[in-house]
Amino acid sequence: MSAQPELSLASHPLTRRALLCGLTVATLGIIPEAAQAAGGITQPSPGKIRVDLKVNKALAKVGGVVTIPLSNGATIALVRTALGVKGFTALDLSCTHQGVTVQEQGSKWICPAHGSQFALNGKLVNGPARSALQKYPVSATSAAVIIG
Ligand code: FES
Repeated sequence: MSAQPELSLASHPLTRRALLCGLTVATLGIIPEAAQAAGGITQPSPGKIRVDLKVNKALAKVGGVVTIPLSNGATIALVRTALGVKGFTALDLSCTHQGVTVQEQGSKWICPAHGSQFALNGKLVNGPARSALQKYPVSATSAAVIIG
């Protein structure tokens, strides 16, 4: 098993701008919703990322997703997989085949390089990747999700 990438928010100007002006937000539910501006992402301590739920309305519904760019070029997707504070999954969107960033398509993550498919919760559906998307530890309250 490979080591988890370090959790550090992106700091170069373009990514910081994206972070401050609106993270990429998409909804992967049955009824797609237009991407919306989001915020409320902070780093309370090294290796931890806090996602404010009041600000990120997409996460109120099962199937909602918020993506968070990291300083190492990787991207985290925080996915609402179920209702309740245990219903969040944080995924590294780097394909487990050769590291290309997977993209949302319907209710799956699809790798544009060689076609691997992953379920919304990161589980492997089709190769050539041989393992699920890597997950980060997550804890949540009704107000926020802490990743890392
Ligand atoms: S890098 Fe994703 S399928 Fe090859």
